[in-house]
This record gives sequence, structure tokens and C-alpha cells, in this order.
Amino acid sequence: MKCFRKKKVVLCLLICNIIFVIILYCFLQTEKVITDNVRKKITYTVVIREFEEFDHDVPQTVRHIHTVLGNDVPIFIVADKLTYPRMNFSNSDVQSIFILDFEMDGKISTDTEILNAISSDLVIFLPDGTRIHNKSVFERLIEDFFHSKLSQAFAVKTGNDNLRCTGMDINLQRWRMKITTFDGSEGHCDYIEGDQAILIRTETLSMLPSPWSVPLTWSIYMQFVVRRWKSFVYTPVVFVPRKGFKNPDSMKKFQHVKQKRENSLLRKFKIKEVVYKTDADHEKKFYYGCNRDSEQCYSLINDIPDFLHRGKWTPPCCLRALRETADYVFDIFSNYSMRYWLEGGSLLGAARSGDIIPWDISVDIGIYMEDIPKCQQLVKTGNYEFIDEKGFLWEKAEEGEFYRVFYSVTNRNYIQIFPFYSKNGIMTKDFWFKSHKQDVEFPEHFLKPLSTIAFIGKNVSAPNHVQEFLELKFGQGAIDNPKYPNGVSVY
Ligand SMILES: *[C@@H]1O[C@H](CO)[C@@H](O)[C@H](O)[C@H]1NC(C)=O
Ligand SMILES: *[C@@H]1O[C@H](CO)[C@@H](O)[C@H](O)[C@H]1NC(C)=O
Ligand SMILES: *[C@@H]1O[C@H](CO)[C@@H](O)[C@H](O)[C@H]1NC(C)=O
Ligand SMILES: *[C@@H]1O[C@H](CO)[C@@H](O)[C@H](O)[C@H]1NC(C)=O
Repeated sequence: MKCFRKKKVVLCLLICNIIFVIILYCFLQTEKVITDNVRKKITYTVVIREFEEFDHDVPQTVRHIHTVLGNDVPIFIVADKLTYPRMNFSNSDVQSIFILDFEMDGKISTDTEILNAISSDLVIFLPDGTRIHNKSVFERLIEDFFHSKLSQAFAVKTGNDNLRCTGMDINLQRWRMKITTFDGSEGHCDYIEGDQAILIRTETLSMLPSPWSVPLTWSIYMQFVVRRWKSFVYTPVVFVPRKGFKNPDSMKKFQHVKQKRENSLLRKFKIKEVVYKTDADHEKKFYYGCNRDSEQCYSLINDIPDFLHRGKWTPPCCLRALRETADYVFDIFSNYSMRYWLEGGSLLGAARSGDIIPWDISVDIGIYMEDIPKCQQLVKTGNYEFIDEKGFLWEKAEEGEFYRVFYSVTNRNYIQIFPFYSKNGIMTKDFWFKSHKQDVEFPEHFLKPLSTIAFIGKNVSAPNHVQEFLELKFGQGAIDNPKYPNGVSVY
């Protein structure tokens, strides 16, 4: 028994001892971390990502950086492809050069490979040809950014002009980017316009799905905006205003490749419409999707457009094609004094927002069958399909007694024209879409008289008592409860 107690005491002493050692160790460790932090130098990697093969200053820029900041500053050159003539670095400027171009038998750098090669706290993207004012202003910038909690990135001007802080909104579902100009609030920019160096934490950069895409400003800020990250315009002078190209012809060439880069970035980021909002009433829209000479950019899977399966709505270029085609056909029908009215989903869209439903793929119009002879295009297309003088393709549907007008032969966005006739006061037709529950007969009194409704920026003809008409076709509450074609509610 006694012996047993003794054992317990020894055990207890042993445990106490272990705990003491652990506590001492922890204490020493924290002490070490604290002193490490005080002593720790903020490290950064300079990245030169944007330069032109035909007129660049990369070796001189690298030499300059090493002269001003020291030879131990890591400088990465990330290029789309090998540059010829080969860059001429002096021995002390031996660089990490990464090539993103793909060759079947060659060595390419992947995004993560470059990121893994960066061991510093920060990355600074410097435009080709940048010159640093002096070392102390540069180090001050690095300190200021490192300790700032305000924003995910700092932008510092490298040219003569001040940087412009703007708002940016990206709606991936609608394939759209909106840029709004606003003054002030330089700590909370979405997009920063102008020649600039960009400072970013390595950790932040590694969170971007496409860290090396160009143009850098577009690419970085667009990826930030999707994550609701903000950027800051750093105003102290850090860089000497950059000189232009060496060769006077290079500017034109540069404008051209810049445009090409922007287009391919927007394609990669799936943006098909860019809207510049200059003030409350003025917008400028640019479309980057399909046009009249390119193919319509979606296909149908089980009667439903593929973009809906991917959680997106109709590409803006398709909606534009539909509006243009519909506008044209409305004018023709009006010119021929034909009785027509908006049908189905198009009338629903008009009632909701005066526009095509944002995920719809056609505009549907009803007409009186007996009015067909008034419209030479419909008469003609009853016999054979044809392209009219404005480039629209008219076609009688293969499925049955109705017509389609396509935006062009290549771009097959279309509107549909359904001929109805009255049978004992009920409007009926000879072809029905079995899968469309809303495709049903209706009393003629909805057309007597016809009314008008605002649609795609004009007044078009519609049934009277629109809400009642729509509820007859789509069911109670159809206007206020949007549903996708497969019946799923829209959030
Ligand atoms: C490369 O550097 C050498 C020596 O600095 C110079 O003579 C030569 O012209 C340079 N070549 C190019 C293509 O810049
Ligand atoms: C660097 O430039 C700043 C701003 O022009 C100036 O105030 C400072 O004295 C310069 N420092 C050195 C070391 O030249
Ligand atoms: C409709 O008629 C007007 C006036 O005659 C004409 O200017 C216009 O081009 C016509 N529109 C179409 C689409 O035929
Ligand atoms: C549509 O009709 C309304 C009322 O009749 C009118 O105020 C408006 O200007 C018209 N809009 C267009 C685009 O013609």
C-alpha cells in the first residue's frame, strides 16, 4: 500500500515536470516570434507582366530596379511567349523568366508554378519602362501598403496623368460589366484607370483564379469586384513619369494589340456587354458577344438553352438581336396595317419590365391568319425561305403552320409569328407546342379592341386586359412570379 502511494507521488512529480518544460518552451517560442516580427523585413517581388515584344525596355528597367533597390530584389518577368530578339540581361541581372505560351513539346509555366516561385509577402506589378523616384519613397510605399488594412491593392501612378477611381459592377448571370465614374472616395475604388503600378499581397494574388491575365488592370480589378474587394489610389510620388515607346510607330501597333487583349480577356471572363455610365442619363454600351455575322452563341438541351443549365441568362448580344429583329417586324406589320399582338412570354416580359424576359430566346407575335395576304414577306415565305433586302431570313417553320424571322442567315436568333383564326368567338390555330402549357386557345374578345403595351422601347400592339389574358395562359400570378421554362422559380 505504501509503496503504491510513493509511486503516485513520483508520477505526479514527473507530470509536473513535463508541464513546466512545455510552458517554458511555449514562452520562449512566443518571445522568439515577437522578436522575429520586429526584425522581419517586408519582402516583395517585382513582376513585369506587360511589355511589347516590338518595343520594350525590360533589361533597362530590370537594371534600374537593381541599381536603385539592390541586386537581391527578385524580379519576375512573366511573358505570353518567348521574346525575340532575346533579352539582353547583364550577369548581375539574371532573371526568373516565365513563359505562359503553350508548345506541345515545350516547357510552359502554369499559373500556380509562378505563384509557388514567389516567396515574398508582397508582389508589385511594374509597367515596362518604369523608373523609381528614389529608394526611400519606394520603401515607404511598401511599408504603407503592408500595414494598411483598408484595401486589397494599392495603385500608384507611373504616368503623367492622375489615376481615376471608378465604380465597377459585374453581373455574371447577365454577362455584363458596368463602369460608373465617381469622384472621391479613393480608398474604395472598384476599378482604377490609368498607367499604374499595382501592389498586392502574395496571398491575395494566389486567391485569384487568373492572376496573370492581361490587361492587368482590367483582369485584377474585375476579379476583385466579383469578390467585393476594394482598391486604393496611393497619391505620393513614387515613380518618374514614364517615357513612351522608342519607335514612334509603336503606339499604333500597341493600340491594336491592346484592343485584342481586352477582347480576349472579356471572352475569357465571359463578359459580353460593357456599359459605361457617364452620368445618370447617359450610358454607352459595347457588345462583345455574337454579332450579325457570327453564330448565335448557345444551343438547346432538352428544349432549354444551355446557358440556363449553367445558371446564366440570355447573352446580351442575343437579346439585342431579338430586339432588332422584332422592332423590324413590328414596323412591317404596322406598315401593312396588319392586326398583330404580343404573345406568350414576350407579352409577359412586356407586362413585367417592358422588355424581353432576360432568359427568353425568342419574341412571339400573334397575327390574324386572314391578314397574311397583306404581308408580301409572309406570302412569299409560304413558298420558300428567303433573305430580304435588310438581311433578315424569313422561313415557314418545318414544325407546322407558323413563321420565323431570323436575325441573319448566320445568326439564327429568331422571332416567331403565329397565325390565329376565330372559330365561334374563340381564337385557335393549326399548330400547338405540346410542351408549352401556355399555348392554348383564347376568347376573341381579348383582341377587340387591341390595346398597346410598351416593349423594347416602343409601343406595340397587345390584347386588351393583359393581366387576365396572361393568367388564362400562364396561370394565376404569372406576372409577379417569374419562373424558368422548366417551372423552377427564379430567385
Ligand atoms: C546586348 O548587350 C551588349 C553589351 O551590353 C550590347 O553590345 C548589345 O548591343 C546588346 N544587344 C541587344 C540586342 O540589345
Ligand atoms: C526622395 O524623394 C523625396 C520626395 O521627392 C524627398 O523628400 C527625399 O528627400 C528623397 N530621398 C532621398 C534619399 O533622396
Ligand atoms: C414602314 O413605312 C415607312 C413609311 O413608308 C418606311 O419609311 C419604313 O421603312 C417602313 N418600314 C419597314 C420596316 O418596312
Ligand atoms: C407610347 O405611348 C405613350 C402613351 O400613348 C406615349 O406617351 C409614349 O411617348 C409612346 N412611346 C413611344 C416610344 O412611342
